[in-house]
Amino acid sequence: MRVGVAQSQPQFGERDRNLAAAFDLLSRDSADLWVLPEFFASGYQFARTEEVRELAEPIPGGPTVTALESYCHDRRCFVVGGIPELADGVVYNAAALVGPRGYVATYRKIHLFGEEKRWFAPGNLPFSVHNVGDARVGVMICFDHLFPESARTLALLGADLLAHPANLILPDLAQRTMAVRALENGVFAATANRVGEESRTAKTLRYTGQSQIVDPDGATLVRLSPDRVEAGVVEIDPAAARDKRLTSRNDKLADRRPEFYRL
Ligand code: ACM
Repeated sequence: MRVGVAQSQPQFGERDRNLAAAFDLLSRDSADLWVLPEFFASGYQFARTEEVRELAEPIPGGPTVTALESYCHDRRCFVVGGIPELADGVVYNAAALVGPRGYVATYRKIHLFGEEKRWFAPGNLPFSVHNVGDARVGVMICFDHLFPESARTLALLGADLLAHPANLILPDLAQRTMAVRALENGVFAATANRVGEESRTAKTLRYTGQSQIVDPDGATLVRLSPDRVEAGVVEIDPAAARDKRLTSRNDKLADRRPEFYRL
């Protein structure tokens, strides 16, 4: 199975342009599953509630998922990407999984970061895992990386791969945590971060790129640049994530002692 991370540079509010740029980037290579950044079509740095409402869209049925459905149908691939989702009269920081036969699933970011708490409702859906070809894929978004429970829950649900759209501004933090999340759970993890800057408020956000794919030992399979629009694709065997043995007497999941964990 070929998995890719696409490191784009969205322009705030320019949905059509950002979608075209994302598809241009994906078309440079081929993958069975692509991961795009958080808010890859809308931009990230909101300044007013009205902007959040203007750029939010239903999932499915909104312009971004509709465009993804068409791309995935034509290219026979799956894509995970971040979208501000309008639902229940509020807006979620969401990600959609779309495949060759259309929309598959939505994840709503559970651990909101910084200013996101002003604009978005916290995710209200449980973590979930979905079939992508022969692989089982779970979705988490950006800051979810800092909470080991996110990746652990997806691994316990049977994920082989964590698809992780991100808009990271701290250098190298999520790259390190995601390598550990992959190692401790014995799963692949694909983090797609964006590049470029947004200066729409008093605070300039500088996105740190370095999108990566790591294997179930936490080893780096691909790591992109800190500042270029580019994509990276690797071939993985999802079955490698199903053997959780560490030694002949240890198993990463079966050796857990949840009766001693205070949650
Ligand atoms: C983040 O969660 N966008 C850092």
